[in-house]
Amino acid sequence: MNELLLTDDERDRAGGRLVALLDGYERGLPKADVLPALDRTRLAELLATPMPERGIGVDALFDRWEDTILPNSTTVAHPRFLAYVLGPPNGIAPYAEAVAAALNQNCNFSQLSPAASVVERAVLEWLASVVGFPATSKGILTGGGSLATLQALATALHDRVPDFHATGLQRDAAPLVVYTSVEAHRSVDKAAAILGIGLDNVRHVRTDERHRMDVHALRAAIERDRRDGLRPWCVVATCGTVSTGSVDPLDAIADLCAAEDLWLHVDGAYGALFLLSEDMRSLMGGCARADSITLDPHKLLFVSLEAGCVLVRDGAKLRDAHAFDSSYLTVADDELMTDYMDYGPQLSRNFKAFKVWSALQAFGVEAFRAANERTLELAQRLGRGIEATPGLTLLAPVTLTAVCFAVDGASPAEVLETLAAENVALLGPVVVAGKRGIRACITNHRTSTADIDLILERLRR
Ligand SMILES: Cc1ncc(COP(=O)(O)O)c(C=O)c1O
Repeated sequence: MNELLLTDDERDRAGGRLVALLDGYERGLPKADVLPALDRTRLAELLATPMPERGIGVDALFDRWEDTILPNSTTVAHPRFLAYVLGPPNGIAPYAEAVAAALNQNCNFSQLSPAASVVERAVLEWLASVVGFPATSKGILTGGGSLATLQALATALHDRVPDFHATGLQRDAAPLVVYTSVEAHRSVDKAAAILGIGLDNVRHVRTDERHRMDVHALRAAIERDRRDGLRPWCVVATCGTVSTGSVDPLDAIADLCAAEDLWLHVDGAYGALFLLSEDMRSLMGGCARADSITLDPHKLLFVSLEAGCVLVRDGAKLRDAHAFDSSYLTVADDELMTDYMDYGPQLSRNFKAFKVWSALQAFGVEAFRAANERTLELAQRLGRGIEATPGLTLLAPVTLTAVCFAVDGASPAEVLETLAAENVALLGPVVVAGKRGIRACITNHRTSTADIDLILERLRR
């Protein structure tokens, strides 16, 4: 008897309890509180109670999940969870996660994960085709958009700084400069700081009246830095800014990067997968011209956390930046297989691609396109409702699914608190052009027109 395995009987019990738990969770969602009142005493007990010397067993564990963990978890799957760019997982996610855990493939090199290696490649090649990247591109699934951007900028450093691996940035040379907009996600600053670029060398270029990077200001900043003897190096444009969902003028920025010989990274964590819809090509088709791009399947593909992605147009550059020989890891070349340890900083990696691939297989691409188009329409509906309501002010044009607004005579915090307390919706705070407001981000495949109308109706009152 192995103390770390379940007996046949326990496996039966665990299976039955799991099915009941998932079913109960799903059926309970319509009545669930989007932001449950926390039982702080129970949570504090988690800290005060020592880990048991003897295990509590399957049934008691499920009881603990159900009485302590579930009721004290935010209901991300609620149809009116509209805070942040975060949606509920698709329906196959819990099953795919369970099977991936059972297989426990180490997605570092193909001997330890042969099917996984091919599945990840299939997912990445499909994502590249959605963006419009060439067949020479390569990528890797990451722990999220922030890590994808970090890896992209590491690749850009390796590509543009001679001997980067040998000498790093510890040399006597003019500072490299990265350009992004004032609306960029803070993961860009974080990546620049972590990689040693220094926040002083991040230019936050001003935006136009639609919150898009101002290309004239970008050009002027590059010229100024060149005049000052600095080294313009990289531009990070955004396809779907986190606050307002604006999309930078990607083609104009790509033209400028080509003329100035700068690496162009597009942060498409929020918006780029809207390219599933051909209609979006006029707005964001310029993603295809980037040197690298961040995508976030855990946003618009509603994959359970975590699943981000970086793609690099010239895949060899991603590999060159991340591949290190090690005598204890010997793998023979195989055309079918990819050793993902050569494409990112991690050695041991879980099988993220499985849940992405499984969802695409189970529901089909069309289902994701339809879900995303529905969220775009719902955002327009909310935007129109706000514009039509005296006392409510739309703070920014509705480009994607973020709807930013203010309520006359009420502080955003007050409104957010009331909406959450009455279980109307969980929305988030936003600052648009210095003005504090509220943001509904409809990255939620469960949201319906009735949900949007309910929110509007409460706001009107
Ligand atoms: C534009 C943008 N970039 C990057 C990120 C960070 O992505 P992640 O949370 O997956 O690290 C987000 C998250 O909302 C985002 O909206």
